[in-house]
Amino acid sequence: MTTYTLALIPGDGIGTDVTDAAMEVLAAAAKGRFSFETTRFPWSCEYYLEHGTMMPADGIETLRGFDAIYLGAVGWPETVPDSVSLHGLLLPIRKAFNQYANIRPHRLLAGVEGPLKAEGFDILCIRENTEGEYSGAGGRVHEGKDNEVAVETSVFTRAGVERILRFGFEQARARRKHLTSVTKSNAQKYSMVFWDEVTRELAAEYPDVTVSHMHIDAMAAKMVMAPQDLDVVVASNLFGDILTDLGAAIQGGLGFAASANINPDRTAPSMFEPVHGSAPDIAGQNIANPIAAIWSLAQMLEHLGEAEAAAAILAAIEAATAKGIGSCPGASSTQEITAAVIAALEA
Ligand code: NAI
Ligand code: MG
Repeated sequence: MTTYTLALIPGDGIGTDVTDAAMEVLAAAAKGRFSFETTRFPWSCEYYLEHGTMMPADGIETLRGFDAIYLGAVGWPETVPDSVSLHGLLLPIRKAFNQYANIRPHRLLAGVEGPLKAEGFDILCIRENTEGEYSGAGGRVHEGKDNEVAVETSVFTRAGVERILRFGFEQARARRKHLTSVTKSNAQKYSMVFWDEVTRELAAEYPDVTVSHMHIDAMAAKMVMAPQDLDVVVASNLFGDILTDLGAAIQGGLGFAASANINPDRTAPSMFEPVHGSAPDIAGQNIANPIAAIWSLAQMLEHLGEAEAAAAILAAIEAATAKGIGSCPGASSTQEITAAVIAALEA
């Protein structure tokens, strides 16, 4: 039986609730199939307040040896600025381990009522995850003065753009063979025009995939008006970040939106986490929906090669939501939903 090593970073707020839920489901899914050796790391805003850093200096090297990383959510804006918590943990991990493809599926689960009339959509958003608008290049001068200047530069490299688009084309090939590349090349005439060019170059290598180019603003409207026309959607770091909250909304809310930070070359561990944050407004109330976290767990098992267990988890989630457990925000507790998924897994 294979034993996988898993680094667990529950983080802050509901991050810990949904991580606990996911780990219970993992134990049930692993039975008779594989086992996990889990190491829990307390890296969070609380850790920051005690140590002055979000993780120890050798944190990245500590994580490198694991087969996978599972993260709940990080952030507690009341005590630690979000820019500090994000740039101190999540973004360094994504960059250091070249987790350049952030995969976020958006579809309605059985029994879940979204806010739209459209029901039959199945979108796979692929967000560039290591550079672009979140590269962290910039600075401020004359702080607090009238002539203060803040500059933040987007960084798009040929290697970075090419690999995320190639990843998208491969995903499209394995699905409905349609790729939509999202830019804003009418307004951003260097980086986004460059992205469009690379898309066209690669499209020639994938003649079986139909390619559409859309601007981010039009795309936002399309995800509401005609989401059923979309298959694989590839976008930069910022655009993908925004579009996937919209994707979460049309699939019923952030409690359903799963996400995988993948290093497709497998030179370092990948990281799995729900799209949502630490939700301070509902933390500690046992009402966080754990489905996004459990779906992310299924993505992790799929990445590790445990496709059967991954499919079983997804089927169990839908068995629960089809019965109305977890399908309606706030109606069932975190524990009730987790128990229903486990019961379906073991049925
Ligand atoms: P959020 O995702 O934490 O919450 C937004 C809204 O959605 C809240 O009303 C919340 O109650 C609701 N919500 C989120 N997840 C839910 C779930 N599983 N079940 C039911 N309701 C849910 O985003 P927000 O409020 O912008 O950020 C809060 C903190 O989380 C900040 O510190 C932020 O930086 C951090 N954050 C961390 C992320 C991560 O670790 N990957 C991602 C997004 C935000
Ligand atoms: Mg986001």
